[in-house]
Amino acid sequence: MRRPKLAIGLVSVALLSGVALAGSASAEPGPAPAPPGAPHPVPAPPPAPPAADSLRALGDRVGLRIGTAVNTDELGSNADYTRITAEQFSSVTPENVMKWQLVEPTRGTYDWATADRLVAFAKKNKQLVRGHTLVWHSQLPTWLSSDGTTTTLSNDELKALLKKHVQDQAKHFKGDIWQWDVVNEAFDDDGQPRQTVWYKAWGGLGYIADAFRWAHEADPKALLFYNDYNLEFTGPKSNAVYDFVKTLKAQRVPIDGVGFQGHLDTQYGFPDLQNNLQRFADLGLKVAETEVDVRTFTEAAPNVNTPTSPLASYAQESYWSRALKACLAVRECISFTPWGFGDTYSWIPGWFNNPQEGAALLYDADLKPKSQYYVIQQDLALAAGAPHRSGPGAGRH
Ligand code: G3I
Repeated sequence: MRRPKLAIGLVSVALLSGVALAGSASAEPGPAPAPPGAPHPVPAPPPAPPAADSLRALGDRVGLRIGTAVNTDELGSNADYTRITAEQFSSVTPENVMKWQLVEPTRGTYDWATADRLVAFAKKNKQLVRGHTLVWHSQLPTWLSSDGTTTTLSNDELKALLKKHVQDQAKHFKGDIWQWDVVNEAFDDDGQPRQTVWYKAWGGLGYIADAFRWAHEADPKALLFYNDYNLEFTGPKSNAVYDFVKTLKAQRVPIDGVGFQGHLDTQYGFPDLQNNLQRFADLGLKVAETEVDVRTFTEAAPNVNTPTSPLASYAQESYWSRALKACLAVRECISFTPWGFGDTYSWIPGWFNNPQEGAALLYDADLKPKSQYYVIQQDLALAAGAPHRSGPGAGRH
């Protein structure tokens, strides 16, 4: 095949065992004792161990969690979707259902039901959960802000609301979240702070340190991440976020990691991703690729996932492979998470439609693995010499 050889460090590290995991299957309570005379319930069989050639089993050999964003409309209702989610991935991220808009659509009334269902699914299938996301300017409830930059609420109200939101949500999921995206997308591409309702209420970026502290108080074992896009490329944004998280570390703000979303596009050059992962890791942080997809130009509707160039999949294979290898090569990179796995459910065709782009994920519209899937699978199979990850989540599952 036309794939570069795996060029990663060859230092192998002994498997860490017995690491206590928030949200691991062992956290599930046992069944309540049956009342006297009641028929003995037949316990549901445990899920079968993952196939040795699944992405999750292959990643496990170097302690790397392979995740996916999950569309909870499909989970449980679409048999193939549900089976693949369980079989292939060792961590899950709610694509939408932990966002503020969905957990508190009406002010003062929480609705955790769908997110709770995903957490239960993850426990049953020995998966960890990336919580996404506590503080963001987008997908806010309309009672708070309809555009993320303007609001009718006062600064004092906003400050109290954000504190309550972070504390309540982190407490609700306490013990069930492996990594929290505490703050999402606080910087613009030019490296300037994004002018959100939060930035304006605080008169600066002080809301970020506050949010990390509140989240840590509420769930001290969760790994707390700052998450953003375009950090993959060295440039004004990546540099600004680098300087900023360095300051947070110096101020002893409880930040554990930085998430590189990894929304890649074959029309642009491949970023110097490994360098960026490494320089953030060198600050004493974990790093993760949190929302990977590789879009390309596609035909107009209804064929939005058919590339216009028959050569597109070669570029996509290369980008997927290089994105994964960048993570494998950096010991502190603890998870690699595509932003979903079926092209039908991807956010890309709806968002990038002039010109049309799509075909960004590892499975096609029929939920059949694409060539990109096999490239990732082979890279993981060849990755036994990559440095073993350490810390919570890196043990066998
Ligand atoms: O739930 C409503 C539904 O009731 C309504 O009928 C329908 C009509 O459009 O909209 C539904 O809400 C949509 C929601 O996804 C759930 O499907 C929103 O319109 C739609 O805008 C929203 O898109 C999500 C987007 O974030 C919002 O910014 C995407 O699914 C999700 O993949 C995307 O994820 C983000 C990450 O959180 C952060 N990084 C970038 C990434 C891609 O934009």
